[in-house]
Amino acid sequence: MRDALMNLIVYQGDTEFASVEQQRFLFNSAPSEYDRRALTRVMIEEMRHGWQMCALLIEHFGHSGKVEAQKMLERRAFENKRLLGSFNEDVDNWLDFFCYTDFVDRDGKFQLQMLKYSAFAPLGRSMSYMLREEAFHMGTGNTGLQRIAEAGVVPGWLLQKYLNKWISSAYDLFGTDHSSSAHWAYVWGLKGRYDEPKNQAQVELDDLNDYNRQLYRDEVATLLARISASQKGGQAELYTPHIKFNRQIGRYKGMKFHSRTGEPMDDKPYQEHLEEFMPSAKDRKLLLDILGAEKNWITPRIGVRDPLETIGEPRKSAMTTPIIN
Ligand SMILES: [Fe+2]
Ligand SMILES: [Fe+2]
Repeated sequence: MRDALMNLIVYQGDTEFASVEQQRFLFNSAPSEYDRRALTRVMIEEMRHGWQMCALLIEHFGHSGKVEAQKMLERRAFENKRLLGSFNEDVDNWLDFFCYTDFVDRDGKFQLQMLKYSAFAPLGRSMSYMLREEAFHMGTGNTGLQRIAEAGVVPGWLLQKYLNKWISSAYDLFGTDHSSSAHWAYVWGLKGRYDEPKNQAQVELDDLNDYNRQLYRDEVATLLARISASQKGGQAELYTPHIKFNRQIGRYKGMKFHSRTGEPMDDKPYQEHLEEFMPSAKDRKLLLDILGAEKNWITPRIGVRDPLETIGEPRKSAMTTPIIN
């Protein structure tokens, strides 16, 4: 139990530091001073989350906790040392950043909420503070995507490709189906379900990760419907990729499904489908051209307070509702 618990804390902390390292190039290309300061705040808070996990390891896990905390501080995303593969990749443009904060930080929120029910009180207690800060990160991502949709300069089809890429990889972050570590983390009281207090149903121990993943998908779908509705006229509706699409782990790993409908597909049509609905090197170049050359690819943020001045202020919406700002 102790090892499983230490492992949960190590993985959580590792992603916190990793995200700062992944986003380190974004300052120079910030679309506005507001966005640069929002990025700064996100990084300050992610660093704090990492330190908080280190503090738990040092205070409660003896010598091995200190060793793990030190290793966590010495790993680097840009040396490919972070524990989860997707946390080693650079996030080097602002569309990726907004997708990251909306969808990967949102996975983070789900993980933190589940840890909030931990029977290990020092861990459970630290979660409320982190969740409060996560709300700002998700809000930054979600309003960022909304502002891009409103501006209408990045074509909707290109935006959809990036949504497909990020959301499908966020599904994987919930872990494999039929996971025995999720099973035991629940049985031992280290972690709860995302909707624990209001969910009175008998727990399905064999499929916890997928249960939480479905809740995540539902939340993302609600948000995306709003982003889609704020597009300029004539753009195709933006959608949430199907839970089976482009999965690298779990029961749908490596299988071929349609991004929107989840219908099984044959090899050749699937290859063509990927070209149409996942970003290629050419798409990336087009995106960077647009972000580099166009001034108006994102609408300005007006009448909002300086993110660095409001740091540490409680956000009421943090615990219960998905969006913010
Ligand atoms: Fe965080
Ligand atoms: Fe975050």
